[in-house]
Amino acid sequence: MELKVFDDVSAASEYAAGMIADIIKTKSDPILGLATGASPILTYKKLVDLYESGEISFNNVVTFNLDEYCGLAADDVNSYHYFMFDKLFDHVDIDINNVHIPDGDSDDPIAEAACYDALIDSFGGIDIQLLGIGVNGHIGFNEPSDSFIGATHIVELSQSTIDVNGKYFTDYVIPDRAITMGIDQIMKAKKIIMLAYGDSKADIIYKLFHADSVTPMIPATALIKHPDCTVICDKEAARKL
Ligand code: GLP
Repeated sequence: MELKVFDDVSAASEYAAGMIADIIKTKSDPILGLATGASPILTYKKLVDLYESGEISFNNVVTFNLDEYCGLAADDVNSYHYFMFDKLFDHVDIDINNVHIPDGDSDDPIAEAACYDALIDSFGGIDIQLLGIGVNGHIGFNEPSDSFIGATHIVELSQSTIDVNGKYFTDYVIPDRAITMGIDQIMKAKKIIMLAYGDSKADIIYKLFHADSVTPMIPATALIKHPDCTVICDKEAARKL
């Protein structure tokens, strides 16, 4: 893993957006793996800026999101579907047929999960995968556990995730299950960038860079074995390194 530390979230997000823009500019059929949460919001804003200034087009871009809560319809304001359209897709020239987000509201979530991996593979895999990191080390919604799950799957959210993400839910309680891309699909991405900002991420970033080995108890440690992974932090998240 390569570590890049920036003075602030703006500079870090500009760097991350630049890495994604490079893929969009150089590949004729770029496949992006996208993330939600607070961390990527400014990166998406900077990609929108690059689109508006004519530097990039999303015309040929195909996207696959990491995860979605179970039981939330696409138009629910707390869904990751809603988030992605609000922060990125509504503001660029992407063909919405090229947008893929796991359907957390599917009648058959097991089949939905299997189809999702097959679909990603049919596009030849992800060129660049954007990740955040949970304070407990989760990536996507791959929660700390005794073993890694490789495929897209349904997961019971940990109490840590329910506590941290639950604050965004005002009208009803956060779902306790989600559908997430598994570790194998994330690791198959040709390039990975992981964003970590703020003091609340300082402990997990310290643990990640001081882990002796890969452990499913800290799912992000899987990235240690990835050949092209850049961890992008602001000064606060990197302050213990
Ligand atoms: C959620 C998402 C993760 C994301 C994490 C971190 O749990 N499922 O993919 O990495 O939040 O979120 P934040 O960037 O808000 O800290």
